[in-house]
Amino acid sequence: MWLFRNILEMTVWKKKMIEVIDIHSHIIPGVDDGSKDMNMTRDMLRLAWKEGIRVIVATPHYKCDGMCKKSFEFREYYEKVCQEARKIHPDFAVFLGNELMDSHSLCEELEAGKALTMAGLNYVLLEFAPSVDACTMKHSLQRMQMHGYWPVIAHAERYECMRSSLELTETLVAMGCYIQVNAGSIMGKNGFRVKGYVKKILSRELVHFLGTDAHDMEKRKPEIQRSAACISDRYGAEYTARIVWENPCQLLARKKI
Ligand SMILES: [Fe+2]
Repeated sequence: MWLFRNILEMTVWKKKMIEVIDIHSHIIPGVDDGSKDMNMTRDMLRLAWKEGIRVIVATPHYKCDGMCKKSFEFREYYEKVCQEARKIHPDFAVFLGNELMDSHSLCEELEAGKALTMAGLNYVLLEFAPSVDACTMKHSLQRMQMHGYWPVIAHAERYECMRSSLELTETLVAMGCYIQVNAGSIMGKNGFRVKGYVKKILSRELVHFLGTDAHDMEKRKPEIQRSAACISDRYGAEYTARIVWENPCQLLARKKI
């Protein structure tokens, strides 16, 4: 009876599993404040696979202050992460990108190959200082677009200017920018105001990507399944599939959403 119930539960859970492409992850070891070493990366990969994550775009932090590791300095680690992922499952793929901190010289650093676009394609994952104002944000995004990049705003819920004006989110989306939110924010991990904003933009289908922003195996794990299920229940399975799978596929195929 016990075995039968377990098998039944596993079958139901398997049926409900939502497959995900995670476009925001600090899984490359020893590069930033993410994974400390290959052991932690291995654990994060195992958990990610269990969470339904089938493809990861690894996005170590990049700042134009000369302090960050350049892409050529961690390519070797990246190759090792790919190997570890394939040991878990031959179809488990990892691509490389950067989470780029907004800066005037960012486009030059991208053109010099020091900083990376997402999987070497047109999309860029862009973050801002938490206190950024709407005007600075708009100008930076326009600058990226003028250079031919397609910006994705990393964890849009983190910025006060976004939370306090739904109009700003709508304007940026109308400009052709994309919105990424963190899975944890939907579960209330970053406070109720953040959660409230995420709910608002999800209900208006202004979110394009759901990412883990995973850093470790403690506070910021590569967990996404509960958040995806919650979005599916509230906003529909079709929209959920778009933000966890179809839009990331477009990103990896160099197609505009
Ligand atoms: Fe991040």
